[in-house]
Amino acid sequence: MICSIVCVLWYVGVLKMLELLYRIIWMIRRALRTTDYLPDRYGKGSWAVVTGGTDGIGLEMAKELSRLGFNIINVARDSKKLKDSEVEIKKTNSTTQIRSIMFDFSKTIKPEDYQSQITDQINDCDVSILINNVGANQSGDFERVPIEKHKEMIDVGIMPGTILTKLLMDKMLKRPKRTAVLFTTSVQVLAPLGGVATYSASKVYLDYLAKSLSHENRHNMDVMTFQCGLVTTKFNGYYKGGFYAIKPQQAAFGALKDLGYEFSSHGHIYHDILAFLMRFKIKFLYNSFSDEMRTKSNKVLEKLSKQN
Ligand SMILES: NC(=O)c1ccc[n+]([C@@H]2O[C@H](COP(=O)([O-])OP(=O)(O)OC[C@H]3O[C@@H](n4cnc5c(N)ncnc54)[C@H](OP(=O)(O)O)[C@@H]3O)[C@@H](O)[C@H]2O)c1
Repeated sequence: MICSIVCVLWYVGVLKMLELLYRIIWMIRRALRTTDYLPDRYGKGSWAVVTGGTDGIGLEMAKELSRLGFNIINVARDSKKLKDSEVEIKKTNSTTQIRSIMFDFSKTIKPEDYQSQITDQINDCDVSILINNVGANQSGDFERVPIEKHKEMIDVGIMPGTILTKLLMDKMLKRPKRTAVLFTTSVQVLAPLGGVATYSASKVYLDYLAKSLSHENRHNMDVMTFQCGLVTTKFNGYYKGGFYAIKPQQAAFGALKDLGYEFSSHGHIYHDILAFLMRFKIKFLYNSFSDEMRTKSNKVLEKLSKQN
């Protein structure tokens, strides 16, 4: 009896080791991919729409897509930053055509405004890629975050991804080549943390939307949720701590190289490792990390309310 229990445990152990080995090989293989296949897959000279492409990950995605020969439609809220981004993007490829659309997702929430101010303006463009990148966060305990900030996280975090995908999808699906929709979500969809409840929930919404859409229209559309880890950008006050804090260029490249291959990606290998650790949810480590995050974000919130 004891012998057969040991035997079963041995086989389970071997299977687990094989699974771990497979995961490590898969991570390394993915890390070696490049983005060079994207123009062939979606059509060189076609257009990529990027929301929030004036800074951070969105700007780097726009630059990488421009380098590969895609034209760019940049939708963001600041006219000066839109102009500066045009210059930045052109540096990667001077022949790229760029359309900048000023739109504040926190102020304009009606679908008909999305249509008249964004999609009607680009009717003549062969849009092949939609990067639903824009998002909003106000960290802090749920009850301490002002209600208008909760609303902003919903308006900016959920509406653009849903409405723009809906408005652009019909035409994108009629293209002779494949098309792609990428949703920038977060590793936080894997494990809920304190201090970022509404933000994480908005990312879970997009993550589910992406995964569901990736089942529909599989034959000609690639949909991917980009479960991104920590990236040093304005979004988090240029936080640099931890091995897993990467540059926006690394995050953008990491995600784009997986488009068309994966339904779900963490992009950079450091974020694969981070996600691997998060999945274990070792309770005492996890609780202390969550508490640390809450304490930090509540301090930021206190500072903000004193300034106002
Ligand atoms: N950074 C991270 O650690 C991290 C981790 C996981 C997921 N993400 C996600 O990655 C995405 C991009 O974040 P990021 O780190 O690149 O942030 P970022 O550097 O702050 O860039 C955000 C971009 O979105 C634009 N934007 C923000 N609010 C907007 C609004 N209401 N209307 C129109 N445009 C708006 C910004 O324009 P302005 O510059 O004018 O504000 C900027 O172009 C977000 O969805 C975020 O949730 C980030």
